[in-house]
Amino acid sequence: MIVRNVLVTGGAGYIGSHACTELLQANYRVVVVDNLSNSKAESLSRVEQITGKPVQFYQADIRDKQALTDIFSREAISTVMHFAGLKAVGESCEQPLNYYHNNVYGTLVLVEAMRDADVKQLVFSSSATVYGESVHVQYTEDFPLGPINPYGRSKAMIEDILRDLSAADTISKVQNPWKIALLRYFNPIGAHESGLIGEDPNGIPNNLMPYVSQVAIGKLAQLSVFGDDYPTRDGTGIRDYIHVVDLVKGHIKAIAALQGERFNAGACRAYNLGAGRGCSVLEIIETFERVTGKKVNYKIAPRRVGDLAECFANPERAIMELDWKVEKNLDDMVSDAWNWQKKNPEGYV
Ligand code: NAD
Ligand code: UFG
Repeated sequence: MIVRNVLVTGGAGYIGSHACTELLQANYRVVVVDNLSNSKAESLSRVEQITGKPVQFYQADIRDKQALTDIFSREAISTVMHFAGLKAVGESCEQPLNYYHNNVYGTLVLVEAMRDADVKQLVFSSSATVYGESVHVQYTEDFPLGPINPYGRSKAMIEDILRDLSAADTISKVQNPWKIALLRYFNPIGAHESGLIGEDPNGIPNNLMPYVSQVAIGKLAQLSVFGDDYPTRDGTGIRDYIHVVDLVKGHIKAIAALQGERFNAGACRAYNLGAGRGCSVLEIIETFERVTGKKVNYKIAPRRVGDLAECFANPERAIMELDWKVEKNLDDMVSDAWNWQKKNPEGYV
C-alpha cells in the first residue's frame, strides 16, 4: 500500500490534533507545521500515544516561506490540511491586522510554497461565519457570503483567493490543477474518546462548551447565558454542534474526494460540516447536567453583540459528495468534553 504524506498546518491545535489522530489511524503519514502560538507540543505526544505512530513535527510559522520550502523539499507531501490560523472573533475586532496577517498572508505564503513544490491538493478550515445574515436559519453552501467581523472576513478572503487560484488553472487547463475543499465548520465541540486530546483554551474561554465544562469542574464560578429573548423555542441562541471527531472524519473523506471524478479537472468547492440540527444554550446545559451528573451554575445575561439567534447547517452536499455523515450525538459530545476536562483540569501542562 502506498503511504501518502499529509502536511497538517496548525496540527498541534484543537481540531488539528484530532485530524492527525484520524489521519494516522487511516494509515497516512503525518507532518505537522505549527508555531505553537495557541497550542502545546504535548498534544502531538498524546496523538502518538493514542495511535502508536510517530508525527513528524516542525515548529515553524506558516508565514516563513523558507521554512515551508524546506519542509516541502524534505517530505514528499501529497496533500495539505490547513488549520493554522487565529480564531477568536472578539480579538479579531481588536487586532484586525494581526488576523489578516496570520490568516490571509499566512495562507498566501502557504499556497505559494505549495505551488512551487507542485503540491496542489488542499483541504481548508473555513467557517460558517463566512455566511451573511439570512432570513433562512439552515444554511446551504450557495447562500451569499457576508461575514460581519475581521475573523470571518479573513476566512472569506482566503476562500476568494483559493477560488481564484483554482479558476486560473481551469482556464489554462494545466496538467496538475488545484483541487481544493473549503470545509465550513459549524460549532465543533467534544474531544477524542480517550480523553488524551481536547480543547485547551488560553485564559477564560469564549465558547460555550469549554465554559460550561470549566464551571462544572469549579474553575469558573458561573456561566452567563447570553440572551433568553431570542425568537427561538426557549429564547436562547441555537447552534449546530458537531463532534470534533465527526468533523475531522469529514476531512479524511474530503482528501478521498479530491482524488475523485468531481475534482479531476481541478475545482474549489465548499462543503458545510455540521450535524444539520440546532441545539439551544439551555438544551446544552440540560444535556450536560444529565450526562455528567454535575450542576452548571448559570445566570441569564444580556445578548452578546454580533450573535445570531439561530443557525445550523444543511449538510446534504457533504453527505452526497463526500460520502460523510455525523455518527455522534449531543450526549457523546458532552460526555467526551467532560471526560477530557476531568482528566486534564489544567489542559496540557
Ligand atoms: P487552535 O487555535 O486550537 O489551532 C490552530 C493552530 O494553528 C494552533 O496550534 C496554533 O498554534 C497554530 N497557528 C496559528 N497561527 C499559526 C501560524 N501563523 N503558523 C503556524 N501555526 C499557527 O484552533 P482550532 O479550534 O483547532 O481551529 C483550527 C482551524 O479551524 C482554524 O483555522 C479555525 O479558524 C478553524 N475553525 C475553528 C472553529 C472552532 O470553533 N474551533 C470553527 C470554525 C473554523
Ligand atoms: N454562549 C453563551 N455563553 C457563553 C458563550 C456562548 O450563552 O459564555 C452562547 C452564544 O450566545 C451562542 C452559543 O452559546 O448562542 C454558542 O456560542 P459559541 O461562542 O460557542 O459559538 P459561536 O456560534 O458564537 O461561534 C463559533 C466559533 C466561531 C465560528 C462560529 C461558526 O467561535 O469562530 O462558531 O462556526 F465562526
